[in-house]
Amino acid sequence: MVATTTSTGEGWSSRTAFILAAVGAAVGLGNIWRFPTLAGESGGGAFVFFYIACVFLLGLPLVLSEIFIGRVGQTDAVGSIRKVAAQSQSSPGWAVFGAIGAIAAFLIVSFYSVVAGWVLYYAGVMGGDLVDAIMAGEPFRGALAGEDQAQIQQRLGDMFASPGLLLAMHLAFMGVTLFIVARGVSSGIEKAATYLMPMFFVLLVGLVIYGAIEGDIAETAAFLFTPDWSKLTPQVMNSALGQALFSLSLGVAGLITYGSYIKEGSGLGSTSALIAVADTAVALLAGFMIFPIVFAVGLDPAAGPTLVFQTLPFAFQTMPAGALFGFLFFVLILVAAVTSSISLLEVPTAWGIGERGWSRHKSALIFGGGAFLIGIACLLGYNVWSDVRPLGFWSLFAETDILDTVDGFTGKVMLPVGALLTSIFIGWKADTNLLRTTTGLSPIAFGIWRFLIAWLCPIAVAIILVTGLFPSILGA
Ligand code: TRP
Repeated sequence: MVATTTSTGEGWSSRTAFILAAVGAAVGLGNIWRFPTLAGESGGGAFVFFYIACVFLLGLPLVLSEIFIGRVGQTDAVGSIRKVAAQSQSSPGWAVFGAIGAIAAFLIVSFYSVVAGWVLYYAGVMGGDLVDAIMAGEPFRGALAGEDQAQIQQRLGDMFASPGLLLAMHLAFMGVTLFIVARGVSSGIEKAATYLMPMFFVLLVGLVIYGAIEGDIAETAAFLFTPDWSKLTPQVMNSALGQALFSLSLGVAGLITYGSYIKEGSGLGSTSALIAVADTAVALLAGFMIFPIVFAVGLDPAAGPTLVFQTLPFAFQTMPAGALFGFLFFVLILVAAVTSSISLLEVPTAWGIGERGWSRHKSALIFGGGAFLIGIACLLGYNVWSDVRPLGFWSLFAETDILDTVDGFTGKVMLPVGALLTSIFIGWKADTNLLRTTTGLSPIAFGIWRFLIAWLCPIAVAIILVTGLFPSILGA
């Protein structure tokens, strides 16, 4: 059954396992926290349509490219790119974008775990409230009974003011991530995905149905699908493009790494399409889960990053069975975050195994531990180090705290650079026959892919990169 060997010898046990793990990597805080936040801030419909175009015209060709590299390479991102380059008579220097990706994934998981820690805390608060409700014999009451809106909002500020609380949550989340990755591909990552992803979809569908029954679904549909093209400013287009890359886990070699554990078979095109469709469907469903509740209570869809932590808990207070569904909502986000964080940590871990010859345990511990430490700096940036501006000398990040600096630098610089180099490498350097035979695409699909990856992706991603770094170009 094992057709090829890898340097680590690890692999998915089936195509389904790979798809669940890859969809799990793609579906995360980006879908449930950031997509609705951005759609809400950007005014809905026009952002949503432009985002969908970005996913299929730019994201999907890149998804296939990364999986292709991993499938051919059968080892960590750096080694895989080197192998494709060798088979294409290109320079081994291209492997640099694998290294950039591994560093970016390492940095992303450090703050991703901190944000997931906030979600963990809220899951705990809502869980405690649900227990209280059950004890009081009112399991179907609204959430956080007896608190007024000011108290609910205050909870977020209190959490940020407490380094100990933030640290405990970050430690717990990173610990789980590290535990799963240290167990390996088939008995760790794959097992987590095969248990958690079905659970995620059940919760998601349940919460969407709840929103449809109790919330205002008509207003949500109008908000998300009625485009007001005047709202599609260059800034909005830019954030839609960046969000598409982030949500599909592109540019940081995540899918190269997961693709390298595919042992047999082709059909890479349909697998890639499935990942892109599932990720987008979840983002839209997350909108259909959150906005009906927000509109039902007459709250502001453009609340920004606090939408999930302040707006929604308040909304759940007035909703029937809000205590129960509020708790399930935060559990759902946690599940999505774990299957993404393990894929992020796996990228540098695989690099340590493949390039340095470390054992899996050692590599996971080094990178998980390192990311934990950087995460501590990020969370201290909300309290004791709130004046620290790590890249303060750079006008783009002059006002930016530690977590947002790591987020901004990876998202605005490293991720687009990784995606740009991937598209140039696949579009212009990789051997055409190797691409054709490995992907197994039909001639028409192959032609479309080659066009998009060689022309549209590099140009569009270069525009994101330049306008992201120099926002004044857009008149901001
Ligand atoms: N796609 C994930 C989300 O939407 C997060 C993410 C970004 C990611 N880049 C990644 C996951 C790279 C795995 C690999 O939350």
